[in-house]
Amino acid sequence: VERVSGKQTLVIDESELFVLAHRYQTVSIDLGTGDGRWALEAATCPTHLGIGVDPCRENLRAGSREAPDNALFIIANALSLPARLADLAGSITINFPWGSLLAVLLTGDPALLRGLGRVSVPGASLEIRLNGGALAEHGWDQDTGTEQIGLMLYQAGFTLARVETLAATDLRRLPSTWARRLAHGRDPRGSYISTAIPTHIAVGGRRSA
Ligand SMILES: C[S@@+](CC[C@H](N)C(=O)[O-])C[C@H]1O[C@@H](n2cnc3c(N)ncnc32)[C@H](O)[C@@H]1O
Repeated sequence: VERVSGKQTLVIDESELFVLAHRYQTVSIDLGTGDGRWALEAATCPTHLGIGVDPCRENLRAGSREAPDNALFIIANALSLPARLADLAGSITINFPWGSLLAVLLTGDPALLRGLGRVSVPGASLEIRLNGGALAEHGWDQDTGTEQIGLMLYQAGFTLARVETLAATDLRRLPSTWARRLAHGRDPRGSYISTAIPTHIAVGGRRSA
């Protein structure tokens, strides 16, 4: 697995990742992390390991530059998550996805859902935050796009705990660069889906959430 630390790209092997992950009580994986603010926020809790994943090396550089030991930034596509991330995450977030990541959420792509299952431990949570501008690029509006993703998850066996609208005040509170941008934009609104990874998809077992 390739990890980014500022300008450097390093390789972290399975045993290093295993040892690192098992030093912490909870592993949070943020997919499509961008500048990694969410993973850095998770790492402010000393019992957490925050892992930010993004296929764009450039996006990961700034956030990873001064990352603490319990924040890791990995170059990977959410559609083909490295096997070495298996059985780690008690919590997975996908915040304001765009491009292929949003496209596969809208179609409920089995490759994405299987990958979420593979990297998670039983009982893991999944939180998704969406914005209308990105959904519009795929032909959906804020509400219908959110419903579509909820439907795809439901059909795959996910139980939806909450589906909510995020107002500007909610967006401002989130440790996400994109949320802050949206909060100050023309349509300061987002949506939120909270669910749990179903056990038939979460095939892990070494740890529990
Ligand atoms: C709008 S940015 C949001 C960044 C960050 N989550 C935030 O809240 O500030 C969308 C991110 O999704 C990433 N992304 C797009 N397709 C992806 C994929 N297939 N797998 C993982 N990340 C992806 C992009 O590289 C980009 O960093």
